[in-house]
Amino acid sequence: MKKCVLLMLAVLAVAAFVWFGNKGECTKKTESVPVAQAQEDYAAMSLEELKPLLETVTEGRLTVATSPDFAPYEFYALDSEGNPNLAGFDLALAGYIADYLGLELEIIPMDFDGVIMELQSGSVDIGMAGFTPDPVREAIMDFSKIYYQSGQSFICLKSNKDRYPDLAATDRAGLEIGAQTGSIQIDLAKKYSSNADIVPLAKVPEILAEVLSGKLDGAYIETPVAKSYQTNYPELCVALDVPCEIKGSAIGVTKNHPALLAAINFAVTAALDDGSMARFIREARELADGNTYEGLLGADGKVHP
Ligand code: ARG
Repeated sequence: MKKCVLLMLAVLAVAAFVWFGNKGECTKKTESVPVAQAQEDYAAMSLEELKPLLETVTEGRLTVATSPDFAPYEFYALDSEGNPNLAGFDLALAGYIADYLGLELEIIPMDFDGVIMELQSGSVDIGMAGFTPDPVREAIMDFSKIYYQSGQSFICLKSNKDRYPDLAATDRAGLEIGAQTGSIQIDLAKKYSSNADIVPLAKVPEILAEVLSGKLDGAYIETPVAKSYQTNYPELCVALDVPCEIKGSAIGVTKNHPALLAAINFAVTAALDDGSMARFIREARELADGNTYEGLLGADGKVHP
């Protein structure tokens, strides 16, 4: 009996230890409040105060990850000899921000899901890839203010347009519907076409090629990108507007860089206010209507169709 009481006491002691130990951990977690506080403090600073506080992966340089398969946001414009040059309003804005902050600019092209991973691991400073500031992503990255408004669309072949009078018509078993890996378009596909087969593909041009060849019945895509492809491929149709609560594009900033985030917001505000952003959008649209390449270049820096 005595033994039994002793055993119970021991169990209680362990339980109490675990309980208070956990409580200790809880207190630790709430200590993240000062970080949140810091974000506000930095947001209240002037640009001159922020500049010396900027911490980047490489000192003096802004390292930007992008996914150049997304005209007019980011893509390659081909010159008269067919040489690819990075273009798009995201990248023009990246250049503006780097100048504004007195940093050198480095752009690293990769697939869209790669941009998310690089931001998560902190191996780049920012991601500019037409990011929708989805709150789910806030565990991985911080978002700048919105610099561009956009919507979402469902695309299909023009010849099939009548099959999709509304989104409910995309929600049928047997349909194959594409969306880019890691994008919010995957979530939209799951929401509106849950009975269809959802096919994730790494690059937007792969999605387009499969819609054009009839392998995919349709795809979810950002409206400006869908319209840009429609200009170049008239057999394609931007069939439906897709409701999406989160609108617009923001810059993804690696977490815990409050000075950088605040400084970037300064630069974005300036680009919006001085008319630069409007010009970047105009110029990007013009270039996107010309000869372009969407995707990644070969190791030799050339286009490999
Ligand atoms: N706006 C969508 C998202 O944030 C798609 C972005 C894809 N960007 C790209 N460069 N491919 O998920």
